[in-house]
Amino acid sequence: MSTEQYGKVDIRQLQLQLGEGKQRFDALQDISLTIAPGEFVCVLGPSGCGKSTLLGALAGHLPVSEGSVQVDGIPVKGPHLDRGLVFQHHTLFPWKRVLDNVAFGLKMQGISRRERYARAHEMLQLVGLADFAQSYPAHLSGGMQQRVEIARVLINHPRVMLMDEPFGALDAQTRLKMQELLLEVWARIHTTIMFITHDIDEALFLADRIIVMSPRPGRIIEELRLEFPRPRSPTLVTSPAFTELKRHCLALLHPETRVVPLSRLSPLGAANLTEIQFAI
Ligand SMILES: Nc1ncnc2c1ncn2[C@@H]1O[C@H](COP(=O)(O)OP(=O)(O)OP(=O)(O)O)[C@@H](O)[C@H]1O
Ligand SMILES: [Mg+2]
Repeated sequence: MSTEQYGKVDIRQLQLQLGEGKQRFDALQDISLTIAPGEFVCVLGPSGCGKSTLLGALAGHLPVSEGSVQVDGIPVKGPHLDRGLVFQHHTLFPWKRVLDNVAFGLKMQGISRRERYARAHEMLQLVGLADFAQSYPAHLSGGMQQRVEIARVLINHPRVMLMDEPFGALDAQTRLKMQELLLEVWARIHTTIMFITHDIDEALFLADRIIVMSPRPGRIIEELRLEFPRPRSPTLVTSPAFTELKRHCLALLHPETRVVPLSRLSPLGAANLTEIQFAI
C-alpha cells in the first residue's frame, strides 16, 4: 500500500458529552464525516462550538459517548503517533536544539542516532529551516517555531495531521507565509490534514473541503468542496469566486445575517454543496 492510501478518516454518528454530573452536556451531536486519504479538510465554526473537541476525539484524547471514530478502519482508542497534533502554541523542549526536538519522536522509537539525525535534517529542509538545526527554540521567531513543530510531527509519518488553529498566534504576514509553506509541504508528503481555524480566508485558501459547524452542541451544518486549482497562489483571495464563498461562509457563521446564495459561482468555486440549512 502506498502512503497516499493511508489516512482515511471515518466518523459515524458521533455524540460526545463533556462535563460531570449535572454539568454534563452534549458537546458534539451526530457528527458523520468521511475524509479521504490525503485530503485537506478545514473545520470552521463559532468559538465554543466543539471544534477542538472533535479534534480531541480523533486524537484519542476524549472518549466518544456514542458512534465511532476510525482511521484506516481501526477504531481510535487513544493517542498514537499515527495522528500527529499541532496546536496554536508549540510543544518543543526549550532545552533541546531544533535538531533534537525534531528527532525526538524517532529517539522514542529506538531509531539509531545516525538515522534519526539524517531524517530530522530532511524534515528541517522540508520546512525551510536546515540552517537552524543547532539553534534553540527560544532563538527562533513564532513562525519558525511552528515550522519546527510541523517537522517534529511529520517525522513520525502520521496518517493524519490534526492542526488546531496552528497559526492563530502569528501576525497576519507570517500567517500567510505559513499557509503557503504548509501547502508546499503537504504537496510533497500528502498526508491527510484536519485543520481547525476561525479564519475563513485561511480555510478557503488551504482546504479541499470546508466543514462548517453550528454553535454548541456542534453539528455539521454544511460542507463546501473547493475546486480552486493547485498550487494556489496568494492572489486567489482576490478572485470573485473566493470573495463570494467568503461572504457565504461569513453568513453561515453569523446566521443573524442572510446566507448569500451560491448561484453565480464560477466553475472554480464550490461544488457538491450539501443542503444549506439557513433561510436564503
Ligand atoms: N473538558 C471539558 N469539560 C467541560 N466542558 C468543556 C471541556 N472542554 C471544553 N468544554 C466546553 O465544550 C464546548 C466546546 O469546546 P471546544 O474547545 O471544543 O470549542 P471550540 O470550538 O474549539 O472553541 P474555540 O474556537 O474557542 O477554540 C465549550 O462550550 C467548552 O466550554
Ligand atoms: Mg478550540
